[in-house]
Amino acid sequence: MENEGCPCAGRDGGPKMTRQGFLALAATGLAAAIGAVLSASGLTYFISPAFGKDEENWIDLGPASDIKPGTPVKVDYVERRRDAWVVNEKRSSAWIATADGKEFTAFDPRCTHLGCPYRWDQARGQFLCPCHDAVFSGEGAVVSGPPPRPLDRYSVKIAGGRLLIQPQPQKGA
Ligand code: FES
Repeated sequence: MENEGCPCAGRDGGPKMTRQGFLALAATGLAAAIGAVLSASGLTYFISPAFGKDEENWIDLGPASDIKPGTPVKVDYVERRRDAWVVNEKRSSAWIATADGKEFTAFDPRCTHLGCPYRWDQARGQFLCPCHDAVFSGEGAVVSGPPPRPLDRYSVKIAGGRLLIQPQPQKGA
């Protein structure tokens, strides 16, 4: 017999596995399994942003109760947008108005004429744009001046007493 007398021979005369050989084989198998799991999860981590769908991007502006009826407030916020592996931050703001403390409107802070920032005039109860003397009502409608349309708006919702907006403005109509 070929393996006869050899300490490496098994019971059936075939090659006998030593303890070191078994441990080396087990370690190799374990390392391969761990590597497969890690590479699968790592691959998922690296490629998933490229295929991720654009989620709804609600931004928390704070307690809705901070906005008093009849007095629009300009609220600053930071918008974070993920573009594949890059997160971009953009500072912006919104004018928030409510007549009753229940229904809220969020206006894009840029005038619909040429984009100047406008302000709220409490005495007049109107938004005034200083660039070309435009006047908007408290509901965002054009009262006078060159703007071609009402103030643009953001979608608004209340969740848990907090005011959230989606920072993609919709054209005022
Ligand atoms: S930019 Fe506001 S009136 Fe022209």
